[in-house]
Amino acid sequence: MEKIIIFDTTLRDGEQVPGCKLNTKEKIELALKLEELGVDVLEAGFPISSPGDFNSVEQISKNIKNATVCALSRAVEKDIEVAAQALKYAKRKRIHTGIGTSDFHIKSKFNSNREDILKRAVQCIKWARNYTDDIEFYAEDAGRTDNEYLARVIEAVIKAGATTVNIPDTTGYCLPYQYGEKIAFLKNNVSNIDKAVISCHCHNDLGLATANSIAGAMSGARQIECTINGLGERAGNTSLEEVVMVIKQHKSLGFYTDIDSTKLYPMSRLVSDTMRMPVQPNKAIVGSNAFSHSSGIHQDGFLKDNLTYEIINPVEVGADSSKIVLTARSGRSALAYRFQKLGYQFYRNDIDILYDRFVQIADRKKVVEDEDLSDMASVYQKSTVGVQ
Ligand code: KIV
Ligand code: ZN
Repeated sequence: MEKIIIFDTTLRDGEQVPGCKLNTKEKIELALKLEELGVDVLEAGFPISSPGDFNSVEQISKNIKNATVCALSRAVEKDIEVAAQALKYAKRKRIHTGIGTSDFHIKSKFNSNREDILKRAVQCIKWARNYTDDIEFYAEDAGRTDNEYLARVIEAVIKAGATTVNIPDTTGYCLPYQYGEKIAFLKNNVSNIDKAVISCHCHNDLGLATANSIAGAMSGARQIECTINGLGERAGNTSLEEVVMVIKQHKSLGFYTDIDSTKLYPMSRLVSDTMRMPVQPNKAIVGSNAFSHSSGIHQDGFLKDNLTYEIINPVEVGADSSKIVLTARSGRSALAYRFQKLGYQFYRNDIDILYDRFVQIADRKKVVEDEDLSDMASVYQKSTVGVQ
């Protein structure tokens, strides 16, 4: 089994989401919890962006013991110098620097050309080497970068000292097979690729971020960049909890992570509360409906054997136990089960009668709650007193 390094960027790419900005105290609290969760690299922020973020990165560097603390910078000497200052107290530090490599970025953003960008890419690594040996290079918009040119840039930055090479699908454009082929192309065409770890950094604009990251790992990447709840620019980044559970569920991939999966659900709630960003109920792994069963067919199967409709035991991700939710689509088994949970023992013919009343209520209400069931049970019991 090979390890996939988990690089968490909740506090950097995740925090870029409008409304999710954190103060230093909140950032430190989340950083400590992310370390407990088991992330290997923690991207703490973008120090040149504001004095507040510089302070957060500095404080996180002082408080984190095991994870590598990483700071983002552009391919600008001052950015790199400020990132290094903010990381001064980190036990393990990484500078993450880079530049856009797609023709969109080269022409529209930099009004430049490929040769000049290649030189700037090499130069930023040289600057970063003045401060640390752990340097990650990002080729922004690598997803839409010509593979031949990307390979040249990656070879040159590794030669200059980059130890991790990040291949971001910045706009979430790639299909999984294309992203996988891009990583395979680099593996096969960059002569010194064995001297660096390839990293996947995928955005979710087409809902493919997790699939693309896994495709990248299958082609040879050994680091995945992700965020709790998939937070991040626009439609977000690869979701940490999804990647971790895909790897855990599919042992045949041959990978493992050091994440304690039982902490995923509490971590998701903490990030959601702190960033004031609700989790969509149907979100994989951590959504409130991820372990709820509401249709009669599913409920019946689940109650006979949970494996019929659940591939993950909620305990594995630290979530509450699976829920049987009663709606107008629920069946008799679910109704009997929920009565039993409330302490009522009814025979099959009682349930048949109660079921007719139940569907009437369920048609009026979206979800039938415990109080409704208790009311139904007491009315029914009174109506049957003395009747044998
Ligand atoms: O999406 C992206 O390209 C980024 C880089 C700055 C790493 O977030
Ligand atoms: Zn990003």
